[in-house]
Amino acid sequence: MSAVPFSKISTPLNALFATIGLLVVAALTTQGLTGQERLVFELLLAAIWLAYVLQLSGTLLSRHRWSGGIPALVIDLLAVLVPAAAFLFVGSRDRNLYCAIWLLKPLRDSTFFRLLAKVVANESRNLIGVTSVFGIVLFGAALAGYILERDVQPDKFGSIPQAMWWAVVTLSTTGYGDEIPQSLAGRVLGGLVMMSGIGIFALWAGILATGFYEEVRRQDFVRNWQLVAAVPLFQKLGSAALIEIVRALRPRIVPAGAVICRKGDVGDQMFFIVEGRVTVATPDHPVELGAGNFFGEMALISGEPRSATVTAATEVSLLSLYAVDFQMLSSSSPEIAETIRKTALERRGGPPKE
Ligand code: CMP
Repeated sequence: MSAVPFSKISTPLNALFATIGLLVVAALTTQGLTGQERLVFELLLAAIWLAYVLQLSGTLLSRHRWSGGIPALVIDLLAVLVPAAAFLFVGSRDRNLYCAIWLLKPLRDSTFFRLLAKVVANESRNLIGVTSVFGIVLFGAALAGYILERDVQPDKFGSIPQAMWWAVVTLSTTGYGDEIPQSLAGRVLGGLVMMSGIGIFALWAGILATGFYEEVRRQDFVRNWQLVAAVPLFQKLGSAALIEIVRALRPRIVPAGAVICRKGDVGDQMFFIVEGRVTVATPDHPVELGAGNFFGEMALISGEPRSATVTAATEVSLLSLYAVDFQMLSSSSPEIAETIRKTALERRGGPPKE
């Protein structure tokens, strides 16, 4: 059997194998397992490892071996080599623990982690800035804690490294309660450190949240831009109007056979076809519209109910434009709005010219 199909172990299956593997690793650390149970668990680990070997060979043999990128290949290699090396060189007590490298497996296909890496890279300067503040406050708190508490609690605050544990726990506002300042000055310091901690963590969260928002917006913009560029009607637009329309259009994928708009419904948006075909059920005979065409403009312009039911003939990629944005398009690009109005008139009055 060829190993190539295993290179396509799907994302959920990868995650499932990794989850089972990690649960088995965890189960193997529990006390009181019988020899038979241990054997079953170890066979399970071996089976998952074998699936990963096949996946790796499939990726290496495939013509599109780099399609998942180098990080995915490195993860596939580690998932096979680390447990194999542990099996050869580590004692039987600990070697199963090395299968925990499979924690990395779900990351190989995850778009979220790619997004996270991008956000961290984009925001690295701000994150480093806040981390430096964290370090400064941490050291300052440990130093002050040492000075204020060393005589009262020499066993807990006897040195700066010792006071550092109190500083970390207080600054992160975790406060285990195992080390508490006794002096008044020490307690005031504790309060200040806690408040600084809240501020620093809020800053971290704020930077990451803004970074995520901006990156997602950027990615949406680039994707919409490519889609809009595929619609001939918009190719005449200048860059300023194009940016406006890219922001206004909402991409949507409709499966084959789905109804996109129904005759008699209120129409608050029109659609541009990027890819695929739709069927318009006009009273005379059905009309097919393909990539580059638009529909749903009649109700939008006249305010009347939809004149026909439109169904996806194939899976169809659409860009939808809402009524308010159509007004914006009318003022920024009157010639496009005019073309849409003319088409609506032709469709209403004369025979279809698609
Ligand atoms: P609307 O009436 O909003 O919703 C149904 C859409 O089908 C309509 O807008 C037009 O875009 C489209 N449509 C209606 N009649 C025709 C036709 N004869 N040829 C092509 N498209 C049509």
